Amino acid sequence: MENIILDPEPLDFFYLPPLLVGREKENKMLNAMYSSLPGTGGMHTFVTGESGLGKTALVKLFFEKLKEKQKDENRPRKIRHAGRTK
Ligand SMILES: Nc1ncnc2c1ncn2[C@@H]1O[C@H](COP(=O)(O)OP(=O)(O)OP(=O)(O)O)[C@@H](O)[C@H]1O
Ligand SMILES: [Mg+2]
Repeated sequence: MENIILDPEPLDFFYLPPLLVGREKENKMLNAMYSSLPGTGGMHTFVTGESGLGKTALVKLFFEKLKEKQKDENRPRKIRHAGRTK
């Protein structure tokens, strides 16, 4: 039975694809918003769209990449996201 599913990882509830298909524009928008932040202070960003469109995946992957970039910074910004469904 275990041979039917070769790779069970993508079935995990918290699985995040390493690459999001067709989200280059949205990713660029998030990067541009983050880059436009002044030295101090923060920003709230709302990502909206139909259920299952990939909002959570987009934001989570963006944050993961950002955390990786921030590793070398002395005072990395605090970043967090909150999700809510109807
Ligand atoms: N661009 C994409 N490429 C590949 N897989 C994707 C993409 N966008 C979303 N997925 C996958 O589709 C599923 C739904 O995505 P996600 O949970 O991010 O949607 P959502 O918009 O946050 O949904 P909800 O409104 O229910 O919170 C997840 O398994 C996610 O990994
Ligand atoms: Mg979501």
